[in-house]
Formats: sequence, structure tokens, C-alpha cells
Amino acid sequence: MKKLFLAVCFMTIVCCGLTKAQAQEINFNDSWKFFNAEADGAEQANFNDSKWRNLSLPHDWAIEGPFDYKHNARTGGLPVTGTGWYRKNFKMPQDAKGKVVRIEFEGAMYDAHVWVNGQLVGNRPFGYIGFEYDISKYLKYDGSNNTIAVRLRPQDLASRWYPGAGLYRSVWMKIDETVHVGHWGSYITTPTVTAEKAVVQNETTVVNKENKEVSVVVKHEYFSPAGKSVSTVDETITIAPNSSKVSALYSFILKPERWDTETPNLYKTVTTITQNGKIVDTYETKIGLRSIAFTKDGFFLNNKKVRFNGVCLHHDNGSLGSAVYKRADQRKLQMMKDMGTNAIRTSHNPPSTEFLETCDELGLLVLDESFDMWKMPKVENGYSMFFDEWAERDLKDMIRRDRNHPSIVMWSTGNEILEQGDKKNGWKVAKTLNDYCKEVDPSRPTTMGMNNYSNPYDNNFAQQVDIAGVNYKPSKYSEIRSNYPELPIYGSETSSITSSRGVYHLPIEKYEKHASKHVTSYDIIGPSWAYPPDIEFHFQEENPFVMGEFIWTGFDYLGEPTPYGGRDNSTNGHWNGDWPSHSSYFGAVDLAGFPKDRFFLYQSHWSTKPMIHLLPHWNWKGMEGKEIPVYCYTNVDEAELFVNGKSMGRKVKGKDLTEIKVNFIRYEPKTFQSKYRLSWNVPYEPGTIKVVGYKNGKAVNEEVIRTAGKPAKISLSVDRSKITADGQDLAYVTVKIQDKDGNLVPDADNLVNFSVNGVGTLVGVDNGNQISLESFIEPKRKAFSGMCLAILKSSKSSGKITLKATSKSLKSAEVTIETK
Ligand code: GAL
Repeated sequence: MKKLFLAVCFMTIVCCGLTKAQAQEINFNDSWKFFNAEADGAEQANFNDSKWRNLSLPHDWAIEGPFDYKHNARTGGLPVTGTGWYRKNFKMPQDAKGKVVRIEFEGAMYDAHVWVNGQLVGNRPFGYIGFEYDISKYLKYDGSNNTIAVRLRPQDLASRWYPGAGLYRSVWMKIDETVHVGHWGSYITTPTVTAEKAVVQNETTVVNKENKEVSVVVKHEYFSPAGKSVSTVDETITIAPNSSKVSALYSFILKPERWDTETPNLYKTVTTITQNGKIVDTYETKIGLRSIAFTKDGFFLNNKKVRFNGVCLHHDNGSLGSAVYKRADQRKLQMMKDMGTNAIRTSHNPPSTEFLETCDELGLLVLDESFDMWKMPKVENGYSMFFDEWAERDLKDMIRRDRNHPSIVMWSTGNEILEQGDKKNGWKVAKTLNDYCKEVDPSRPTTMGMNNYSNPYDNNFAQQVDIAGVNYKPSKYSEIRSNYPELPIYGSETSSITSSRGVYHLPIEKYEKHASKHVTSYDIIGPSWAYPPDIEFHFQEENPFVMGEFIWTGFDYLGEPTPYGGRDNSTNGHWNGDWPSHSSYFGAVDLAGFPKDRFFLYQSHWSTKPMIHLLPHWNWKGMEGKEIPVYCYTNVDEAELFVNGKSMGRKVKGKDLTEIKVNFIRYEPKTFQSKYRLSWNVPYEPGTIKVVGYKNGKAVNEEVIRTAGKPAKISLSVDRSKITADGQDLAYVTVKIQDKDGNLVPDADNLVNFSVNGVGTLVGVDNGNQISLESFIEPKRKAFSGMCLAILKSSKSSGKITLKATSKSLKSAEVTIETK
């Protein structure tokens, strides 16, 4: 939802015979000053900030580090606390005088206080929601300087994961006529969508800041995905002085190109407000025409049943921290799609607008979540402190902001809320929040992730949302259905198995923690409430009424390094007991964005395009002759393993089972016979292992792993060789340490140094190692399990960026990308 975006001066243009005075939305991300400590008087216009650091937004100061034991490992071992000041000087165009000037922050982490020319204009504690202030009356329009100052004060013990710190999302200045579309002012739903037609309902709030009644024409024009105008509707409304009014209109779109997970078609709505023959505001909204329905037997998208192959995701993007880059979200979400994912749970907070736009564009269903806690705290200084005063506003604002995204199919009022156990009052709070959701958007169902079965069901708590989400109780699905036959069920959080990419501990055994502070990638280790993905697959198949699952998690994230340093939600304190472990092990993909084996286990279950994956690596010096368990994750019918050309036999998917160890508090057996993995135990001999996949008896795919020799060279590959020269686009360079024959050296940990030339910068480095204390921003990184990552950012100039990677006694490598 955007005003026509102009970064230039206020302009008057002629369009369709009408004079069009366009509102401006000016990106306000550049030329800020930053200071990372208390600064007396920094809110004052004449404060001397000349020694402060210059930077552009989005900015997350915590990701710059350094890691330190004094910071909480639960929040990433990084400085997510303290005071951060941001100041910016700017001049207003003279003709903005008399207009409405607003400043919008898409998110500020957290407890933001904002001053304009020394005057406090507002405070917003919640770091994950956007907010705006009308600052017209505080500004000077005479060509002299204006100053905006923002103070953030994120506290220790305020989050169960890494929240980041700073102005980590975009800031906008909006200059409008006195009559304009309100903030998040368009609300567009699709009450009926069939192959033949879509009914589009458009409720747009128009604000009148004049001291007199005004009469305006509100017009909506709808454009197809190809840009063809397909429907127009308008009406005249009268708005009382200094108030706002909702214009409600509906339109038909014939033969709609529907939005779904395979073809995420997006239409555009252009709303114009015309006053006295002059267009005073133009407002664009992307929409998708789709129907959603939930019954106790499933979720239906455009009348077709769809199961949630979902993932939970936290908001950080590894070495970029919480700073929002659309490309980082695109990469992350595309990888999830490639894994077979069709749904995302934004655990446990409102995501960025860029994230939701990407879900719209990729065809990912979204469960948009608001809170991790209500009044009862999970951590000492968390959202509970603000709940009474702010929950209504924060929740309603999330829905107002997000309700036009076709990807969103449910609103979640909370995750594992402790009030589940409050027999007397818990349900009342749940009901109040549910009512807020319905007030702002009755078109979507509500949900919560609940972990405390049977309490929430027995306490009339689960009954307060449309769809009760179940966290970590696959073995209870049938019991819940027979006790509460009318309630829809899905796994709102599942599995929570942990691993470190490329690490295999032999023999395979269940352990709580490992001396290495890594976790084996045989995909069986997790805390007591966790269980291998296979168990969830099994119970979902046994109980087809369950609508699907959202795994914990798609990607590793910063903080919450379970099983190291702490294990449960009631641990309020620092989780530094197993320092330097500081980032999560739960992801199917590591923090750098490299798939772990588990990625392929999900892909084998969630996707149909033939795939095959083999583990572990084949470098087991000293283990010659000893048995190595070899696992294969595939979606084809059969697989045959060869060791140095010798067949180890064919295994049939669904028939040949792999016994895996389980230690799950809600499942009595200590082993599970999994039909989701194929396996062989083979005596180790160096050389080659190869797996061949067969479909209908024919070989369709294969994977080969070779015993690697010594590290000899660096290889670089980039995700895109051309990127946009907008100062925001990113290129992800994968670095591999190879032997002289080009095989990945699976245990290589060589230090790689980077240097960049040309029109770009290095913005982040990583390797996915959960215990590495290396900086995310310095131009060097050790490989972990043979790999590391460098992220390049474009500048606003076109040209070339060259990254050179060198390492002692290895052949270096170089990659060049173009920016335009
Ligand atoms: C859940 C919680 C998540 C995460 C997960 C780890 O109970 O909702 O936020 O902490 O456990 O297994």
C-alpha cells in the first residue's frame, strides 16, 4: 500500500484532463547520524552531533557486535541492549506549508521516543510494529533547518531470541493535501472469488484535516497482473470538518486471474481522491483475488484443499541481523519454497512489509502473528510490561497494516501464551484480543499456537480463536479430535529437531548436549518436547483432518541456542552456560542460508519433483572398516547405494524402514521405524559413495560424494550475477574450500579473507557455525564444514563489483557481478 512514491519536489501534473496534485512519499533512510549511548540533550535541535557516525537505514547496531559473554546468549550474545540515538537534519519545501506532513517508521527496536525540533511527538514501545506521527505543526517551512531525533532503549531480558536494535526498517516522510487517504487507509477484501468472477470490496478511509466539510470523489481502478484496466468504480462522499469517513464500494472482476500458491497473480488498485475537480491523493494497493475457507476438515484455497507444509521463521537474516533488505527475505523465502514449503508462520511478531510483499509475490500462505507474551511474562522486561497499555493498538495496527496481503490467511494473537493455564481469566483476555481482530478484519480466521494441551481446551481458552493451533503434540491429535470434534486442528509448531550443518557424530546416539557444542546432522537430536520430523509426518498421515504443520524452524536464527545454555521458556536469565554457543540449531537451513540435511528430508516429503540426497560426508580417516550409517532422503520409489562401484543393495521407499532413536516426552517408544528415510550401514573405505534413484524402475537421479583430499583452492559462486544499483540489492557469494580435484573438503575451516573492488560493499559474512564468535561485518571468515558466505551490497551507481577471496596456502578466487 503505497502513495505514489516520489523522491523529488512537490509537483503538479496534468492527467486525463484533471490537474493532479500528487502526494509525496519520500524515502527518509539516508543521511542519519548515530550515537550508541546516552546523550544528554540530543533531542534538542541545536545539539552538536558533528562527531556522531553517519549512516543510512535500515540499521541494526547489535549485529555489528562484538559478541561478548556479558551479553545474553539467548538473544544472540550481541549488544541488543543500551541506548541508541539517531538524528537527521532536513529542510522542508516551502510549499509543504499548510499541507499534512507525516513521518512513518516501519519499525524501531525498541521503545522509540521521537522528537521534532526539540518537541516530543510520540513514544512507541513495541519494536515490531510500524507507526507514524503528524509532524506538520512542529516543522519550519522557511528554508531553515529541521531536526528529527529518535531515542531507542532496548533492554536486557526483553526477548527470547535476537530482536536486533535500531531503526532496522525504513523511514518515510509523507506530504499530503489536507484531504487524503488515511494511514493504512485502504481495506480490500474479496468476499466471492470463483473462476467466473470476483467481487472486490473496497473500504477506504479518507481524512479531512480542513475546518470545513468537504465533498470528494473516491474512485478505484483495478488493473490486471498484465496492467490492463479491468474495472472502475466511484462515489462522492461528504466528510465533516476535521474527521474521516470510510468510502465503501464494490466491483466485479470477470474471469479473475486468481492468486494461489502456484500462480501468485497480483492485481493493482489505484485509488484517487478528487476534490473540486483536482486529484488530491493517489493511493496504490496490490491485491490478490482468492477465496479462503477453513472447516474442521481442512483449509481451502480457491475451493481446493491445501495442507500447510509450513515453517516458522524469526525475522533476522543471519549476518544482516534484523535490518530489512527485501532481497534477503526473497532469498530466504525462495529457499523455503524450494524445500516444498507453502506456508510461513511469522513467529512470534509482525514481520516487515517487504517480507509480506515477498510472500504475496512467491505464493506463500502466511500466518501473521502478533505476540509471544501477554500480561504474564516469559522474560523479565518483555512485552508484558506494555501489554495493558498497548496490546489493543499494536494488534489492530498489525491487522490494519497487513490486511490487504493475499498471502495472509490467519491472524495469530499469540504464541504459547502463559494465560493458557489461567482458568479464570485467560479466556477473557483471549476473547478480547480475538474481538479486536474481528473488528478490524472479519474476513480472516484467528489462531494461536498453544503448547499446553489439555489446559487451554479445558479452560475455554482454545475456544476463543477460530482455529486452535497445537504446538508439539502430534501423538495427541486423535485425542483432541475426539474430545473436541468441532475444533479445527493444525500443528502450529512442530519437531524442533536441532543440527549443525555438515557435522556427524558417530555412532548415532541420543545425547542432550555434545562436547563440541555442535549437534549431529542425523536429524534425531532435540530437547524433550522435540521429535524427529518423521514422527510428525506419521501422525499427520494418521489424522488427515489435521491441516498441516509449521516446523520449528525453516532457518537457524540468532539467539535461543537450545540445547546449549538453556532450554525452556521459563528461564528468564542469561543463557551463557555453554558459551560461545549463541545461535539456534533448529533450522532446516543454517544461519548463512546453506541447507542442512533436514532441508532435504522435508523436500523429500513435501515436493514431487524427483530429488535425492545422501549423508554423511565420506571423509572418515581412522574409521576404515568400521560401519558408517548412510542415509538417503528422496521422493522417488527406490534407491541403490554404491560404494566404490559396488552395490550395497536397493531400498524401497515406504517399505524399507530406518530405525531412529526418539526421546520425546509425549511418545512412549524409544525408537521409531521411519519409512521417510532409507539407510545402509556400510564399512568405511575411502573413495566414492553414490546413490541412484529409481522411478517406475528407471534410474532418474543420483548423488555422488567423494572422499576429499587436502584443502587446495577456493571456489566462489554467486546467486545472481546482475543486481540492481539501488543501494539495497544484495548478491550472495558461496565460498567452498575444495581439494585439488574440486571436491568439497567437509571439515575445512580455513580462514578466508575478502576484498571488494568497484561499486559495492561487503555487508555481511557468515558460515552457519553456531559457536563462532567471529564478526559478521569484518572482511574475513573461517569456513565451517568447508563453506562460508559473503554478502555484497550494491551502491546507487551502475558498474561492477569484484570480490576476491584469499586464504593462506590455498589458490584464491574471484567473482564479478554487474549492477545496473
Ligand atoms: C517453542 C516456542 C518457540 C521456540 C521453540 C524451541 O516452545 O514457541 O518460540 O522457543 O519452543 O523449541
